[in-house]
Amino acid sequence: MNEQLAAQLRAAMREGRLVAGERLPAGRTLAASLGVSRTVVTEAYEQLYAEGWLEGRHGSGTYVTDIATDIAPAPEVRGGGTAVAAPPEEAAGAIDLRPGVPFIGRLDTPAWRRAWRLAATVTPAARPDPRGLPGLRAELADYVRRSRGVACPPERLLVTRGATNGLDLLAAAVLRPGDRVGVEEPGYGKARNILAARGMELVPCPVDEHGLVVDALPGDLRLVYTTPSHQYPLGGVLPVPRRQALLAWARRAGALIAEDDYDGEFRYDVAPLPALYGLDPDVVVYLGTAAKILTADVGVGWLVARPDVAEAVAARRADLSDRTAVVPQEAMRLLLERGDLDRYVRRMRGEYARRRATVAGALEGLPLRGDTAGLHLVVETPPGHAARAEREAARRGVLLDTVERHHAGPPRVSGLVIGYGAAPSLGALRTASSLVRELVAAG
Ligand SMILES: Cc1ncc(COP(=O)(O)O)c(C=O)c1O
Repeated sequence: MNEQLAAQLRAAMREGRLVAGERLPAGRTLAASLGVSRTVVTEAYEQLYAEGWLEGRHGSGTYVTDIATDIAPAPEVRGGGTAVAAPPEEAAGAIDLRPGVPFIGRLDTPAWRRAWRLAATVTPAARPDPRGLPGLRAELADYVRRSRGVACPPERLLVTRGATNGLDLLAAAVLRPGDRVGVEEPGYGKARNILAARGMELVPCPVDEHGLVVDALPGDLRLVYTTPSHQYPLGGVLPVPRRQALLAWARRAGALIAEDDYDGEFRYDVAPLPALYGLDPDVVVYLGTAAKILTADVGVGWLVARPDVAEAVAARRADLSDRTAVVPQEAMRLLLERGDLDRYVRRMRGEYARRRATVAGALEGLPLRGDTAGLHLVVETPPGHAARAEREAARRGVLLDTVERHHAGPPRVSGLVIGYGAAPSLGALRTASSLVRELVAAG
């Protein structure tokens, strides 16, 4: 019953019969006029809240969110035929379902423009602090506390250019060429490349549907790189007992854990788990980034570590002349100070919840993984099928990515990694996801 009501309301919003900003009737009123119980209405509203269609304004009721831009007509997916696909970068007009790209169609707000305009008037320092602008560090320390449960004094936080830049600096500061470093398998290829370029001996560490398999970690690693909030790419969220086991392992091994929290702000339908760092700030180095909450093009990230590690990173950074430019730092500070970033992240959580519901809805019944967080999910397929689906989809104007590609060694898991950030609209996502369904079903 509540499902039916939710579907009717969704259709009304999609078709423009209910528009952004419109207030919905109170639960009691709607229940009475439909002749259903109040619970049915409450549950339908809750479902639509979770998907991002509705928002509550304190004390004043339930409103339709701003979805107008999402219901733009979808680009056509090309039919069968023999045209040779352009390489992904050149496939103009293609719908891009590859992971790693946020939706930036709503970034250009008055707050965004104001922050950059004001930031451009900042007085640059003659000798930049390798730890970043003090004002931004204080704002970021506050941000990671309220958004990710990372309690740290600003002294422990350094501004970087992104999560991978943070990892690179960490490796340069605390590791030596030849050190054995654990990386998730399958895992984030750029992290592997960065550590390999610093001369580390990479040790692939298996992951399962929950994330890193802690019992399988060797005792002689100096560091393990991991994505506990949303394993990249399989999407597992590391459960609390494994988190504790991982911290105990790090203490026993005398190793550091590099926690890449690249998309930890986005969680759907499930209670958020705070960052691992909060459980043991002495063995975890937290790597955050603006790459998903805004875009990688902002070039700002943050690293939080215990004081000796933070100092070593700052010193090494100065040696390497690696720095974050002052204008993006100041823009980021202004966005944080005025609450604009938090508002934007809340809005994007709704946007991504709708996108994820669209993809998951189109792929319902297929074996999905990792769809409770982040900006991508995985559809498992039998070995060999994903690469075939990827080729056929490219021919028909949809760009896909395979799980196989994220392995350093022989693939242990097969499937497609579906990113829902890059598509221009919900309509495009729906069209492209239907094609994925068709291709996966065809085998
Ligand atoms: C696993 C993972 N970590 C980090 C990042 C972002 O890194 P950076 O902040 O260096 O751009 C991404 C972006 O796609 C990612 O997928």
